[in-house]
Amino acid sequence: MNSEPITLVDNHDRAFPYLRLSVTDICNFRCEYCLPDGYHCSSKPKFLTVPEIRRLVTAFAELGVWKIRLTGGEPSVRKDFSDIIKLVSQTPGISTTAFTTNGYRLKDNAQKWFDAGMRNLNVSIDSLNQTTFHKITGHDRLNDVLAGVEKSLEVGFESVKVNVVLLKGVNDTSLDQYLDFVKGRPITVRFIELMQTGDNLDYFRKRHLSADVFRTKLIEQGWIENIRLNGAGPAVNFTHPDYQGAIGLIAPYSKDFCLGCNRLRITATGDLRLCLFGNIGIPLRDLLQSDGQKQQLQARVKKQLNYKKSSHFLAQGETGLIPNLSSTGG
Ligand code: 5AD
Ligand code: SF4
Repeated sequence: MNSEPITLVDNHDRAFPYLRLSVTDICNFRCEYCLPDGYHCSSKPKFLTVPEIRRLVTAFAELGVWKIRLTGGEPSVRKDFSDIIKLVSQTPGISTTAFTTNGYRLKDNAQKWFDAGMRNLNVSIDSLNQTTFHKITGHDRLNDVLAGVEKSLEVGFESVKVNVVLLKGVNDTSLDQYLDFVKGRPITVRFIELMQTGDNLDYFRKRHLSADVFRTKLIEQGWIENIRLNGAGPAVNFTHPDYQGAIGLIAPYSKDFCLGCNRLRITATGDLRLCLFGNIGIPLRDLLQSDGQKQQLQARVKKQLNYKKSSHFLAQGETGLIPNLSSTGG
């Protein structure tokens, strides 16, 4: 934990010890619900540099943030990804360094990233069936990704989680396969309800499914819903005495989902996003240009937090600015 007092609190009494930092918009996968046509950049994007990231992370750590997740796009497409891991994990106050990946470079890099200070990993695997995986992501890489997961357990990652976006008619009958997968592995598989974004409305209408279908099945099979700890993320977790791993359900459309919000987001070009689906992007980059701007930066962040809304209002069909999740990393 960070010994700094948590000074990032909004008007709804929520504290923000957790920052999700996108380091690139670029992704080499083409997930059907996210980037079905692949990544296209209009002009040459200028993502935050290592010194800018250092200033940002230092400022947020002093405001009480102790957990940083590196996201993308696919964060590992950055050539300086290990340098970013190193600087984040060595920042005073940051006790948890995590990242979210599609896993395509995991097998070859797990050791290197671990050595740089990474300890927590979320890998997206929307199907354990090779053909379905290929169809969803545009890449026939399931076996590489699975080998990467095994490798990260082997090198000693403290937390390995697998994200599965729940898709009607695609992976909604695959619960048993994932249960087998966690039986002998200390891995949490988390099923995430598909979220509507600016780009995926037709897909959303066709494929969205409530996570409740799995909840009923899990309870029938003897899985126990854990009591939610204060400060826990958005997942409801289930465990079973016969299984080493666990199952989580993330249901952003459920009532009160936003009450437990504990995170802020930074886009790859340095905008603060108060909510994944928020309408406001607050530029911070102009205050990341020298170490001497730190107090100004902290003051801007604190001021903006007053504008954080109580909920994402997704159920009312508001998707805010966001065309897809590759720009803010989910
Ligand atoms: N709805 C739900 N999850 C999504 N992700 C990307 N786009 C969506 C969406 N529209 C997931 C990715 C990854 C995580 C960062 O967010 O699959 O697991
Ligand atoms: Fe890439 Fe993740 Fe989007 Fe898939 S969901 S295309 S892996 S950013």
